[in-house]
Amino acid sequence: MLDGKTTRLRKLEKTDLPLAHRWVNDRDVVGWARFSPEHMTSLTELEKEFEKELAGEDTERITYIVEEKSTGRPIGWCVLRTWDRKHVGANVGISIGEKDLWGKGYGTDAMRVLLAIAFDHMGWHRAELWTLAENERAIKSFEKCGFRREGVASEAAYYDGRYHDVVYMGLLKQEWDARKAA
Ligand SMILES: CC(C)(COP(=O)(O)OP(=O)(O)OC[C@H]1O[C@@H](n2cnc3c(N)ncnc32)[C@H](O)[C@@H]1OP(=O)(O)O)[C@@H](O)C(=O)NCCC(=O)NCCS
Repeated sequence: MLDGKTTRLRKLEKTDLPLAHRWVNDRDVVGWARFSPEHMTSLTELEKEFEKELAGEDTERITYIVEEKSTGRPIGWCVLRTWDRKHVGANVGISIGEKDLWGKGYGTDAMRVLLAIAFDHMGWHRAELWTLAENERAIKSFEKCGFRREGVASEAAYYDGRYHDVVYMGLLKQEWDARKAA
C-alpha cells in the first residue's frame, strides 16, 4: 500500500527531523511549499511541532517520508491532514526536499501513493490542497494525479515581500475510483 513505482512512503520518525530541518530551511523548497508545515527554523521547533504525532497522539495529521524506492534514500515528505472525523474534507501536502530531484516524476508518484492511502484505505471522500498560482510544476503534477482546479483566491498569500494568487484544487473519491478503473 505504501509502494509507488519510483517512491515508497513510510511514517515520519524522529531521526528524520534533522534532514527535514534542512529541507524546511532551504528557501527554494520552502518558497514553493508556502502552505506546508514548513515554516520552522530551528530543529527544536521542528521537534516540538512533531512531538504529538511522533508519540502517536495526533488524530489530525499523518506525515510520511518519501523514499526513492531504488535506493531507500529519503527525498521528501508528504502529509494527510483531517479536521473532520468523517474525513469529508481533508488536506494533503507534499514537498520533495531534494531539489535536484524535482521534475523527475517522484512527486507525482508519491502523491498517488498518498491518495491511495487516503481514498482506498482511510475512506476519505475528498482530498484538497492549495498552492501558489505560479507553482506550475506542482499544479501540473497534481493534475496528473487527478486534481481539478476549483478556483483562484486572488492575492491570498503574502510571501517574500508580495502578494500571490492561490489555486485551490480538489479530487473526489469517485473521480479517483474512475481514474483507477480507466
Ligand atoms: C511540487 C512537487 C512535489 C512536484 O514533484 P516533482 O517530482 O517535481 O514533479 P513531477 O516530475 O512528478 O511532475 C512535474 C510535471 O511538471 C512539469 N514541469 C516541470 N517543471 C515545470 C515548470 N517550471 N512549469 C511547468 N511544468 C513543469 C514536468 O515536466 C512534469 O510533467 P510531465 O511528467 O508531464 O513532463 C516538487 O516539485 C516539489 O516538492 N517542489 C517544491 C515544493 C512544492 O512546490 N510543494 C508543493 C506545494 S503545494
